[in-house]
Amino acid sequence: MKLSIHSNHRRAALNPRDPAFFNDPYPAYHAIRDAAPAFFWEDYGFWCFARHRDVAALLRDRRFGRQILHVATREELGWPEPGAHLKPFLDIERHSLLELEPPEHTRLRNLVNRAFVSRQVERLGPRIAALANEIIDRFQARGSADLLDEFANQIPVVVIAELLGVPTTMWRQLLDWSHRMVAMYQFGVTREVEDKAAAASREFAAFLSAYVEERRARRADDLISRLIEAEEAGGKLSQEELITTCILLLNAGHEATVHGIGNSVKAMLENGVKPSGSIAPLVEELLRYDSPLHLFTRFALEEVEYEGVRLKKGERIGLLLGAANRDPERFPDPDRIEPQRAPNPHVAFGGGIHFCVGAPLARLELETVLPILFERLPDLALAAPPRYRDSFHFHGLESLPARWRT
Ligand code: HEM
Repeated sequence: MKLSIHSNHRRAALNPRDPAFFNDPYPAYHAIRDAAPAFFWEDYGFWCFARHRDVAALLRDRRFGRQILHVATREELGWPEPGAHLKPFLDIERHSLLELEPPEHTRLRNLVNRAFVSRQVERLGPRIAALANEIIDRFQARGSADLLDEFANQIPVVVIAELLGVPTTMWRQLLDWSHRMVAMYQFGVTREVEDKAAAASREFAAFLSAYVEERRARRADDLISRLIEAEEAGGKLSQEELITTCILLLNAGHEATVHGIGNSVKAMLENGVKPSGSIAPLVEELLRYDSPLHLFTRFALEEVEYEGVRLKKGERIGLLLGAANRDPERFPDPDRIEPQRAPNPHVAFGGGIHFCVGAPLARLELETVLPILFERLPDLALAAPPRYRDSFHFHGLESLPARWRT
């Protein structure tokens, strides 16, 4: 891995697409945290923070936001107008909970939050268990499978489609739209990626508009019905927000959870950890140990000085969740899995006002499917060393080849 750190100048050069880095970013994180915990990451062109205490504080610091265009114009920021070809994608992002700041964020978040209160989510437990068992039935007799594609990839999309009230038989189509859209959040986006994301946004939004119309007359006990009610009550939710929220939940609810399952299974197999004892603390520890999302950014909403770093209004910063979760200052022996670690204040779900709204659901999925997998597949083992995908901040596996006794 080519990593150069200039601790005096607090700068680091490290290509996020270097396989040695994205396959195991933790040695680089440790080196950077020791030399310059606040550093200018040359390849990204912005300041990043690697210590737990900084990441946790900055996630909650209201001088920073996910969005900047509510307090400054493109002209003031010196930003070019985005290409017209991106309009369908940006139209969706513009109404996304994840990209909004208060007061719009608060209004939308309250509406969405109601669907994720634990009572609503707990109801899904038996359904998630049945789904995991059904999927394992398909390949158990074979004695081997790619558990990423055949297991992890198929559970979260079906669960979120059911919660929303979208036909679960569409899961492949939903995944295709989702993959094309989230590719926009990777490093080094090309025109081809932009065109694909724009086309996926157009198709996904067209499907949902038609589907919402159809569902107006056919309400059920699902999230789409509740969002339709809020929209019809007037003033609470626009049609665009309704559609964007469904898309965001499908995209956000799927990708990170797939990688949460994949990374957890890999970590358990490599470290000889089994789901025995209390499952909830183990799941928290696995999310800390190999978090699925490693980098989120914020904009300085005003001129800010933090840890001696002077930031201009509109300047972007990077919060390294994966590095924070291995910070020895906060987690003794951070590179070891301690199944019952307590306390465990990891930031795998973020923090502050954008804290993952789907965390109760993601936790339930992991707590349900991991014990079932290890119970159903005796002597489960890796069949080959798994590799990560070339998308540093979506820290997830390409495949997870596994075998077991039949
Ligand atoms: C292991 C799985 C998951 C992980 C690691 C994860 C992680 C995160 C993180 C770190 C954030 C904060 C982003 C930021 O601060 O900029 C976030 C936000 C969010 N997540 Fe998750 N997530 C997971 C699963 C889910 C699920 C299952 C759903 C929905 C069904 C979901 C929906 C959302 C939404 C809507 C937001 C935006 C919340 C807001 O801006 O107020 N996530 N997630």
